[in-house]
Amino acid sequence: MGKEIIVSGIRPTGNLHLGNYLGAVSNFVKMQHEHHCFFFIADYHSLTTHPNPADLHQNVRQVLVEYLACGLDPEACTLYIQSDLPQIPELYMLLNMHAYMGELERVASFKEKARTQPNNINAGLLTYPVLMAADIIIHKATKVPVGKDQEQHLEMARTFGNRFNRMYQQEIFPEPYAFNYGKELIKVPGLQGGGKMSKSDGDNNVINLIDSPELIRKKMSRAVTDTGPTEPNTIPSPAVQNLFDLMGLVSSQDKLSHYQERYANCSIRYGDFKKDLAEDLINYLAPAREKIEAISANNTLLKQVVERGKEKAIASAAKTIKECREAIGFRSF
Ligand code: TYM
Repeated sequence: MGKEIIVSGIRPTGNLHLGNYLGAVSNFVKMQHEHHCFFFIADYHSLTTHPNPADLHQNVRQVLVEYLACGLDPEACTLYIQSDLPQIPELYMLLNMHAYMGELERVASFKEKARTQPNNINAGLLTYPVLMAADIIIHKATKVPVGKDQEQHLEMARTFGNRFNRMYQQEIFPEPYAFNYGKELIKVPGLQGGGKMSKSDGDNNVINLIDSPELIRKKMSRAVTDTGPTEPNTIPSPAVQNLFDLMGLVSSQDKLSHYQERYANCSIRYGDFKKDLAEDLINYLAPAREKIEAISANNTLLKQVVERGKEKAIASAAKTIKECREAIGFRSF
């Protein structure tokens, strides 16, 4: 397979959790050695919720530290901060001229945000998928490692790129597709019985990469289950199914089968199941967790990574913007 262009990013909202890792970062780490990769910290995207300046900076720094702790190699990939590239807001603005209210209002993530934060339905929220498209197509990406929740945004990125090509009769942007090394995109479940692992449902719903073994044990002991199966071969409740799904992601197949059998014959003890899963989570995350502190203390390294990333990312983005400006008709005299 030839080298492709890969782009992906994460919003800086605090510590990375297992969902971010399995849905996105674990793929970044593999892809960086196989393709031309651009990975960034989506700080513009986090402005839709108006973070205060000190928190924003701290959160950007934390994602950078955790990217490096997970194994992103700034020599192998281009690692940068979204707001360091003036070409991104420029492309965002250009794409906005061909993005329509109706299609933006129909995006599931917009409808969800409009429901959960009715007092802050800002234009940035509405045009969030346009900014995300700009991030992706600015480097002409074809693959975008993301979790299942981002699939609709990728569809929009294809729409906006294709529309620009058609409008100006040029093949500037290829089509980007969501990607995961597994068979399909993944959704890592949360611990509280609901949907996906997400910070918006509280810290007890997520396992962060930085969580200590004690904290992981505590969170797992509080993970929601049910009263247990009383008849053989019943279908697990959504909360218990979530825990089986988590085990499927971090434990061995043998262990998963063991607990599935015990569930099927009603001999499962949720206490043991959750303890066992906690230990596997701890071991799974240990290599990254152990590096976080040392990297965080190395400000010189962080500064170097950000400066080098900015330079490489701008070189790529500037080329695309030049093509777009010419296509649109902005020409020099
Ligand atoms: P964000 O910051 O919400 O999440 C970052 C990445 O983590 C994945 N993820 C999950 N995957 C599986 N299960 C989960 N429970 C889970 N929770 C989070 C997300 O799918 C995502 O891949 N809009 C994006 C950030 C972004 C971006 C981009 C991504 C901005 N521009 C360009 C790719 C390309 C977001 O809010 O992700």
